[in-house]
Amino acid sequence: MEATSLLNEQGLSNIVFHQLDVQDAQSIESLEKFIQTHYGRLDILVNNDGAYGVIVDEDVLRALNVDPEDWLARKVVNVIQVAMKTTYESDKLCLDTNYYSVKNVTKALFPLLQNSPSKRNVNVSSLRSELKRVPNKDRRKELLGDVENLIEDKIDKILQNFLHDLK
Ligand SMILES: NC(=O)c1ccc[n+]([C@@H]2O[C@H](COP(=O)([O-])OP(=O)(O)OC[C@H]3O[C@@H](n4cnc5c(N)ncnc54)[C@H](OP(=O)(O)O)[C@@H]3O)[C@@H](O)[C@H]2O)c1
Repeated sequence: MEATSLLNEQGLSNIVFHQLDVQDAQSIESLEKFIQTHYGRLDILVNNDGAYGVIVDEDVLRALNVDPEDWLARKVVNVIQVAMKTTYESDKLCLDTNYYSVKNVTKALFPLLQNSPSKRNVNVSSLRSELKRVPNKDRRKELLGDVENLIEDKIDKILQNFLHDLK
């Protein structure tokens, strides 16, 4: 809201804010209704939200003379693996935010995109999530082996197995 006001004050009067929690079905529906009512279509959907899937120990970072604000910088990440840990909860949050929520938001807003002559769907990802970097050989093969037939049900099943194994 604050950012929107600042941008509006600077002359960008056509910027509006609407709250969205991508993990909350009601919140997605509320955004969908808002766009439908006010605009009737969506030209570009950018799925930018993200969760890292790791817990970072800021005390360890400080001991390494790394500013916690900088931990994502490319060189820093390589040095600070020691300060990161993965848990079932952090990975679940990661998958819920980065995969299931993107899917749910896109499904909900897809009809509005279809109403636009210039429809675009941009999904922001990360090098760290490239399939070829998946450490487990069998999982990598499952995901990369037959990409043409990598349908939604199959991906969901792989992710369920992954979380089950992690637990
Ligand atoms: N930074 C990098 O070096 C880097 C590198 C490669 C890829 N990326 C990708 O770039 C994208 C943005 O990353 P970033 O670095 O800007 O990350 P960030 O600063 O941590 O921002 C993540 C954003 O996701 C939002 N978010 C998280 N959970 C959400 C939820 N349940 N509902 C709605 N919004 C939610 C956060 O909103 P709140 O602030 O309101 O919590 C925040 O604005 C991500 O997809 C990430 O994978 C980043």
